[in-house]
Amino acid sequence: MRFFIENFGCQMNDHDMEKMGSVLIDHGHTPGGGLEDADLVIVNTCCIREKAEQKFYSLMGRLQRAKRKRNLIIGVTGCIAQQEKEGIFERLPFIDFSLGPSNIHRIPEALENASGASAFSAFADNGRSPSLTIRPHNTRRGIKGYVTIMKGCNNFCSYCVVPYVRGREESRASADILAEVAEMASRGITEVTLLGQNVNSYNNGSDDISFPRLLKKIDAIPGIRRLRFVTSHPKDISDELIGCFGTLRTLCESIHLPFQSGSDKILSLMNRGYTASEYLEKVVALRERCGDIAITADCIVGFPGEDESDFEATMRLMETVRFDGIFSFIYSPRKFTAASALPGIVPPDTAHERLSRFQKLQRTITLDANRRMEGRRVEVLVEGPSRNCAEELMGRTRSGKIVNFTGDESMIYKLVDVDIIKGYANSLRGEIPKPEGGKRC
Ligand code: 5AD
Ligand code: SF4
Repeated sequence: MRFFIENFGCQMNDHDMEKMGSVLIDHGHTPGGGLEDADLVIVNTCCIREKAEQKFYSLMGRLQRAKRKRNLIIGVTGCIAQQEKEGIFERLPFIDFSLGPSNIHRIPEALENASGASAFSAFADNGRSPSLTIRPHNTRRGIKGYVTIMKGCNNFCSYCVVPYVRGREESRASADILAEVAEMASRGITEVTLLGQNVNSYNNGSDDISFPRLLKKIDAIPGIRRLRFVTSHPKDISDELIGCFGTLRTLCESIHLPFQSGSDKILSLMNRGYTASEYLEKVVALRERCGDIAITADCIVGFPGEDESDFEATMRLMETVRFDGIFSFIYSPRKFTAASALPGIVPPDTAHERLSRFQKLQRTITLDANRRMEGRRVEVLVEGPSRNCAEELMGRTRSGKIVNFTGDESMIYKLVDVDIIKGYANSLRGEIPKPEGGKRC
């Protein structure tokens, strides 16, 4: 069967999509075709904000029309599947199966049952799910590999649906993770990103090794040149973890550290477990340890109860930290969550106006950070041809910034030194250093 997976959402979802693709290939199916001509379409969903849900339901309308015209098996996976459980078949009676994120290993079973009288579903999430340990084939990312180290979240930030749809935290055995990374290295993967909703809680309360110890062990695996992880919770960043930056050979000088708001009142309503000054202390400690570290974050504007002074506190925090980049969102009320019952709803116009002020300020800060790279020589891991110009190459610095430069194809998948000659809003322009004392031909 030819399959196509449409994916929404975060890096965890990207990775789940790769896992599902690998399970399907192992069962004799072939990737290919698109929404228009595949025999099986799986939609891997996200419900973190309302917009992602709306996109999903409009795609399902298209798929329903497609199914009237051809033999098509449709499966829904991911967070909306888990959120709606059996209710999804009432809303979308034409789908053939639905699996929660902890049940994606059951796709073959779902397909065997697809022609049955009733749709197949699986939403159990009672720990030790084999979905956590599926090792995807290296399907599409060259020298970059992603490894799930934990899943779920126990934090219950008041706005967030993740604990309800991804369940409680569950860590994967370190021996299994290390074996997967070693196997990736043997396949030529040089950059590894560790994935989890809250990686700093890895193995919390277990006898297995801590997250910093895991980083140290991965750092020692021959062949691995770069190590990254997402996502971190500021309250769980330990001194031992901060001490890994600037010390471990492979650990890249970048961290994604969502702050969500700069106002203590809003942080408390969000149940984040830290104040703005505690967040700043972590930033100072990270920069003391590793001056070059690039810090990116997530932030929500228009949270219930946010007034102008709260928003200004957020803007002040941005100015103080001067992040390399921020993903910013307007608060979106979500089913099950505590914040959805909070008073003080911010009118949409006000929320949009704040978001645009926020993004305008961040654009200038990011541009400034990128311009400050001009004149520096940096190590770039070359990922392939540049998106906008096929004659150019694109790669990333250890700090995660995109660099476009003229180079030759043999550099693809290699680490090369590049001189940064210009910083733009979203990328850097570089050039290969000229050989000492002579012109390049
Ligand atoms: N509304 C807006 N943004 C949200 N996020 C999570 N839940 C919501 C919500 N209900 C954002 C947070 C989180 C990122 C992944 O998505 O900033 O860090
Ligand atoms: Fe959601 Fe908070 Fe958990 Fe992140 S830490 S996944 S924002 S509940």
